[in-house]
Amino acid sequence: MDQTVAPLAARRSGPLRGHVRVPGDKSISLRSLILGAMAVGETRITGMLEGEDAISTANAMRALGALVERTGEQAWRIMGVGVAGFAQPRAALDFGNSGTGCRLSMGAVASCPITAIFDGDASLRSRPMRRILDPLEKFGARTVDQQQGGRLPITVKGALDPIPVVYDVPVPSAQVKSAVLLAGLAAPGETTVIEQEATRDHTERMLRHFGAEIAVTPNGAHGRRITLKGQPELVPNPVTVPADPSSAAFPLVAALIVPGSEVILEGVMTNVTRTGLFKTLREMGASVEELNVRVEGGEDVADLLVRASALKGVDVPPERAPSMIDEYLVLGVAAAYAEGTTRMRGLKELRVKESDRLAAAAAMLRINGVDVEIEGDDLIVHGKGRVTGGGLVATHMDHRIAMSALVMGLASDKPVQVDDTAFIATSFPGFVEMMRAMGAEYS
Ligand code: S3P
Repeated sequence: MDQTVAPLAARRSGPLRGHVRVPGDKSISLRSLILGAMAVGETRITGMLEGEDAISTANAMRALGALVERTGEQAWRIMGVGVAGFAQPRAALDFGNSGTGCRLSMGAVASCPITAIFDGDASLRSRPMRRILDPLEKFGARTVDQQQGGRLPITVKGALDPIPVVYDVPVPSAQVKSAVLLAGLAAPGETTVIEQEATRDHTERMLRHFGAEIAVTPNGAHGRRITLKGQPELVPNPVTVPADPSSAAFPLVAALIVPGSEVILEGVMTNVTRTGLFKTLREMGASVEELNVRVEGGEDVADLLVRASALKGVDVPPERAPSMIDEYLVLGVAAAYAEGTTRMRGLKELRVKESDRLAAAAAMLRINGVDVEIEGDDLIVHGKGRVTGGGLVATHMDHRIAMSALVMGLASDKPVQVDDTAFIATSFPGFVEMMRAMGAEYS
């Protein structure tokens, strides 16, 4: 990752206009690299996210023996080595800022007879990995975390004879679920993951797309029980990556808060495990219309027509968190521009993202004059319909803090500054240029 620090200020802008397509979905891009590397033969991917997180995951798959090539703009080709076919990497695998790339790859390696060292940047080194190591050890993998605190760098010695596992995930996490399913591929018999709250289901969908047998049944009111039949031969199948709803969230909220804006966001994935933000914004009074609703590459997608809207505060229930876990920072911005109080409940998992996003969201808003509180795991924003601005926001190596602040400043009385935009490249290369093309003023 380019370590040059790049500060930027957002200032009050005229109406945003445009028809844009945000980059490919990060979750699907990373899964297509990993599953492509575990299939036998050639997987073609189009619409791939070409951000730093995908590049570091692609490099890791190369180090594990897969051939990974860029064949054109957002077009990639992978020659996979088959389930349990990874080669011993010669050096530590560096996942940079990517928690998803790292944790899913740990799962894939855990039931493969090799030893690999997993590492990342300072942000990733501070994030909890025990939640992944615990289930992987049940398959028979051995793990060593040199620092003992369940933090990177971590050595994973894969199981020679993996045993299938039934695992009830203790935190709502698609990464933990996915790591268990990927480890289960090399185990005989059935591996089962039980979720108390349903999280994004891209791994399950893609496993099916590659020919694995996977059964999903409801578990309680909000959960799922997912059973994978082990030792399939994964058959490569082309992957079309839709536009990332978590990236679309930034131009979408920008268009809502900048008066007179009207923007079309093309081909955005509308998988219900990802659209909690859209639902919440509509409850707040946002005008977000879905046009050309269609299925592309096995996912629901639509073009979103977004018009500037008067927003009001709402109560966001905790069970909605898994479907919008990456969107609370930018929802905090929308809530600041709304009239009235927005209470976002049950945000414990936000504390272990690329930064402590619960604290970071409050700090970003407060330094720009917004009345905000944290109560337990709830974030409470008292919206006044306008934001003073004038603050310098610390991004803490977190792409989504940078982009949220750069959205907030487009309608505030005084400019909003961020200390570093470099990490935006992990998930949304070209963000600043795309926003400028729509009329955003950054300097
Ligand atoms: C992701 C899962 C979520 C999310 C992350 C991507 C995934 O993390 O925050 O950006 O692709 O599986 P958790 O599983 O830790 O909630």
